[in-house]
Amino acid sequence: MKVNKAIFPVAGLGTRFLPATKAQPKEMLPVVDKPLIQYAVEEAYAAGIREMIFVTGRHKRPIEDHFDMTFELEVALEQAGKHDLLDVVRSVKPADMECIYVRQSQALGLGHAVLCGQRLVGNEPFAVLLADDLMVGEPPVLKQMVDRFAEWRASIVAVQEVPPEHTRRYGIVAGAPVDDRLLDVQRIVEKPAPEAAPSRLGVAGRYILTPGVFHEIENQPRGVGGEIQLTDGIAGLLRREKVFAYRYLGRRYDCGSKEGFLEANVELALAHPEIGPGFREFLRGLEL
Ligand code: UTP
Repeated sequence: MKVNKAIFPVAGLGTRFLPATKAQPKEMLPVVDKPLIQYAVEEAYAAGIREMIFVTGRHKRPIEDHFDMTFELEVALEQAGKHDLLDVVRSVKPADMECIYVRQSQALGLGHAVLCGQRLVGNEPFAVLLADDLMVGEPPVLKQMVDRFAEWRASIVAVQEVPPEHTRRYGIVAGAPVDDRLLDVQRIVEKPAPEAAPSRLGVAGRYILTPGVFHEIENQPRGVGGEIQLTDGIAGLLRREKVFAYRYLGRRYDCGSKEGFLEANVELALAHPEIGPGFREFLRGLEL
């Protein structure tokens, strides 16, 4: 029951970031010097996952190109003796990592995007990472979840406490505590109004799911916003299997929103070994 595969749904329209996302996926927006998708792929790799499945949409090329070999660039860097940069470029796709692409021809919702990966995943547990949720944790958040999965062998969704006025932005779970971080989920609801929310625990963009979820997604009617929702599939799964919610250790930046994206850039720039100190000076000098 090892988690070997991860699905990265990257076919959304990214409307909150227009016009930046008019001709490129929002997952290619850089935080400091790396695109969002690379942070998520590195997190999956650190959790022991080697098969990366990207569910792409109409502007898939930049993501495919990013994880492909860039022959001319590598030759140019080699000839210029820029070996540090060559290592940076080559480390984007380690030799033992496989990248596979599948197309979601219409953005019918996150559940539908996950379903597009069904044939490639087969009958195994798998992870789902939403790259627009940038997670910073030690150990990396997905690794924390993979370790819990090894122990419990049941689906696990990452959760965090959210302000009551934000429940409409999240799937919200309620359940019985198993230990200080784990909950045995009894209910999961997509984007409830604050007065209807069963708790304040919102689902963040990291999941480990058993393959039974595919059948559940297939059998759900369209949910909130007319979309095929992953949350509804998980609610179906709950009737047959145990599902846990895991309060991860770490920090999440909602890079699907402009505020979260800017916060991630500022905090990661401050922590960056090369530019951090200078950037800190720059911020100090700002008259706020
Ligand atoms: P979001 O709802 O945050 O992304 O979906 P969005 O629709 O692209 O963004 P906005 O709200 O219009 O700005 C969460 C994740 O699921 C993917 C998105 O790419 C994002 O990573 N997704 C969503 C799909 O792959 N397909 C879909 O049909 C919907």
